Amino acid sequence: MCGIVGYIGNKQAYPILINGLKRLEYRGYDSAGIAIFNGDLNVYKKQGKVQELVNFTKSKNTQGTIGIGHTRWATHGEPNDTNAHPHVSGNGRLTLIHNGIIENYALLKEALKKEGHTFQSETDTEVLVHLIEELQTRENLKIEEAVRVALSKVIGAYAIVVIDREDPDKLVAARKASPLVVGIGEDEFFVASDPTPIAEFTQKVVFLNDEEIAVVTRDGDLQIKSIENEIQNPFIQELDIKIEEMEKGDFEHYMLKEIYEQPKTVADCMRGRVNAAEGWIKVGGVDTCKDRIFNANRFIIAACGTSWHAGLIGEYLFEELARIPVEVEYASELRYRNPIINEKDVVIALSQSGETADTLAALEMAKSKGALCYGIVNNVGSSIARLTHAGSYIHAGPEIGVASTKAFTGQVTLLSMMAIHLGYERGTIPRSYYLQLLEELENIPNKIDRLLKNAQKQIEFIAGEIKDAPNALYLGRGYNFPIALEGALKLKEISYIHAEGYPAAEMKHGPIALIDENMPVIVIATNKSAYEKIVSNIQEVKARKGKVIAIVKEGDSIIREIADYTIEIPDTDEPLTPLLSVIPLQLLSYHIALMRGCNVDQPRNLAKSVTVE
Ligand code: F6R
Repeated sequence: MCGIVGYIGNKQAYPILINGLKRLEYRGYDSAGIAIFNGDLNVYKKQGKVQELVNFTKSKNTQGTIGIGHTRWATHGEPNDTNAHPHVSGNGRLTLIHNGIIENYALLKEALKKEGHTFQSETDTEVLVHLIEELQTRENLKIEEAVRVALSKVIGAYAIVVIDREDPDKLVAARKASPLVVGIGEDEFFVASDPTPIAEFTQKVVFLNDEEIAVVTRDGDLQIKSIENEIQNPFIQELDIKIEEMEKGDFEHYMLKEIYEQPKTVADCMRGRVNAAEGWIKVGGVDTCKDRIFNANRFIIAACGTSWHAGLIGEYLFEELARIPVEVEYASELRYRNPIINEKDVVIALSQSGETADTLAALEMAKSKGALCYGIVNNVGSSIARLTHAGSYIHAGPEIGVASTKAFTGQVTLLSMMAIHLGYERGTIPRSYYLQLLEELENIPNKIDRLLKNAQKQIEFIAGEIKDAPNALYLGRGYNFPIALEGALKLKEISYIHAEGYPAAEMKHGPIALIDENMPVIVIATNKSAYEKIVSNIQEVKARKGKVIAIVKEGDSIIREIADYTIEIPDTDEPLTPLLSVIPLQLLSYHIALMRGCNVDQPRNLAKSVTVE
């Protein structure tokens, strides 16, 4: 949600800001803007993609070695040039970019109006920059002090960067509940919402904590203070982000690249953690709090969206293999209930970004109730990773496509490893089955690879056949029910076709009324258990003239006879099926979206990393 980038150093800021915004565009893409100081402060803003801003600034003065840039996902005020960031204070002295929501902006705005402030935009952000200006002028404060005092009056979430034209050799940045990272280069600093715009310049970073204010100066000084005015010791971390991981390479879209990366990302997730030949599995995070995890009364999995679907698979895995009761919760619901959680519970947060506001808040609540909090996260150093007592990274590398793909399979791989590990250690699966699962886990990357090679043409063909359908139904049983939900989500988010996922047997309790010759029904039918049941469900759809696209195991001739189209996936042990059955659904939605002319990587209204509630 909104991308922020700032630069101060000896280089020209403009290319750094623009390239940074392009890298951050997946966080929001309704408008973009930059401010660059060069004796004077030049602010350029444009509705639309970063490219619009680039076109607009071609004939402008973009010289300067200090600047800030922003790509917006609108909350307050429609996407237009005026509401785009940066926002400038009434006296023209301060320029600010912001990610988050200032919840008490209306009250603050009224008070500021009484002091004579007038506003150009409908945004909460403009209120904040006027508030800082008001305090700075009234009390004659240095910019960092004015920011600190202003933020103590603000309710809500923010990551901000401010430039003061009267004090132009510094950037002032602050965060609360919205991510912000400071990059430390040679005689230069970067500030950004996430490390992607920074990684090509430096891998040395400091992730700001909530209610911290950082000041970086041209002469190489970095100072961090709390909002209570206490000096903090910066914790400098080394990133391990490779530039090629952030590029599209030869692929037309990030989403396609990320789908095709899955043989590697699943293998990376298992690297050093599974060894079938030697018969061991290690999940470091689990071992650091073994007692509490092994003796937990129950696991509560909290997540949103695609990560929630991975969590649902976690429920099937932990209950079947480790015999641990599991509840899977939408983080947004969990946080506002008054749930019964105590120190015998383990709360597992699943999040690609590690920044999702609801997941973060649910975790904070669970932590305050004494639960052990475990994070399964992709982004290293993210807020969830830092908040949890223990956790495991999925090592999928940067996921740029807004529709999550490789992070999902990474999460499911991690959950599978945990469940197999716990099942064996708790004695709920025999050694023979344990070894078989380890071997099968190690085979998964090759099987994904084979599936991607073999099914590509057939999936493209089927996409062409159903691309004009206004609706689609996804059905699955057992481990494939969450895959039905995920397949439906992938289709709706990038192709704007209305789609629903259902447990196959539930179809009779309502959705069957929707089925006619225009309704594609995608049935994930790779089950070993309840195979006959899913065959009956397909027959029921066919009896009503529905068009059946079935995902089946290689060599399944029974379903091939009755379905309109089949897509074959390699066989595997049932608990690991989701790692394969999701792949054709990702590709199917990709090709349908492409054929419908949709923007696959930046679907309308969506943004990666939902840092507001
Ligand atoms: C869908 C998608 C979203 C995210 C959700 C949670 O393709 O990407 O549904 O899964 O916003 O995000 P994270 O995993 O970052 O917490």
